[in-house]
Amino acid sequence: MLKRESDIGEVADGDAFAWSSGPRTDAALRDVVTRDEVQLEREAEERRERRARALEALAPTTGEVHPVQPKSAAMILFENVTKVYPGDVTGIRDLNLQIDKGEWVFLVGPSGSGKSTFVKLLLREIEATRGNVIVGGRNLAKIRRSKIPQLRRNIGCVFQDFKLLPNRTVTENVAYALEVQGQRREVIERKVPEIIALVGLADKVDKYPHELSGGQQQRVSIARAFVNHPPLLICDEPTGNLDPETSIGIMQLLYRIQRTGTTVVMATHDREMVDKMRRRVIALEDGRLVRDDRRGGYAEVTA
Ligand SMILES: Nc1ncnc2c1ncn2[C@@H]1O[C@H](COP(=O)(O)OP(=O)(O)OP(=O)(O)O)[C@@H](O)[C@H]1O
Ligand SMILES: [Mg+2]
Repeated sequence: MLKRESDIGEVADGDAFAWSSGPRTDAALRDVVTRDEVQLEREAEERRERRARALEALAPTTGEVHPVQPKSAAMILFENVTKVYPGDVTGIRDLNLQIDKGEWVFLVGPSGSGKSTFVKLLLREIEATRGNVIVGGRNLAKIRRSKIPQLRRNIGCVFQDFKLLPNRTVTENVAYALEVQGQRREVIERKVPEIIALVGLADKVDKYPHELSGGQQQRVSIARAFVNHPPLLICDEPTGNLDPETSIGIMQLLYRIQRTGTTVVMATHDREMVDKMRRRVIALEDGRLVRDDRRGGYAEVTA
């Protein structure tokens, strides 16, 4: 009984601090709401500015544009490539382009424009209906099936949905990429902690994916994609599931990877990122190349 009385007392006290103070007129309420909105808007603006500055820092220095290179410098070469899916749906139409070793390229275009088809052709998950897809100097139509794993070992992949193994730890997820290639135990034990530290997760080695934030999970998937130091890194919407600030950290990490000489091809819908980073932009629409801009921006896609 007593306990109950004290409970009631507490409620009464609480009542005084929370519910009945101040004039509760509509005008006062409006004032509070407006002030909060102004404050929130100001904070959002500050966040946007910070993000813009961080992205601009990843742009090439003024005037630096990747010059047109001879075919011998190509990491990726598409020659008159068309991909028609069963049911007569065209994924890519008569595509010609060259992406050079060490370049950073954004691949943009509306949903259904052929970005993922492009990525799948590179990995030889699908084959071109017509034309040549040449990666690292090899024509993918001509490589034997038994050589496909070797091709994929040289191409790191990062996806929007991370694709981590849920019941393996961070270390095990990264190690798995090497185990399936039959790497020696001592190589795995040396490389895995190294790459996990590089992506900034040294304190998370024993965590499972569900114990990590989205940004941390994407870091694991980048570690896994890059543990072999592949010359080519393909990213299909790597920041699509991340908030704008987390995605900055991911872009900075990918930028560091590109600076080691890795070619980075990134499909994305993130306009601001593309505009601020001023990299080469390849725009697809309905499977066609509609723009190849060496110093790009997202907005001109339909120009
Ligand atoms: N396996 C498939 N079978 C039949 N048609 C397909 C297949 N995969 C893709 N397509 C079609 O090919 C076209 C290009 O699709 P793709 O997935 O490459 O687009 P995307 O640019 O990656 O789109 P999003 O931005 O939505 O990911 C679309 O019309 C799509 O419906
Ligand atoms: Mg896609």
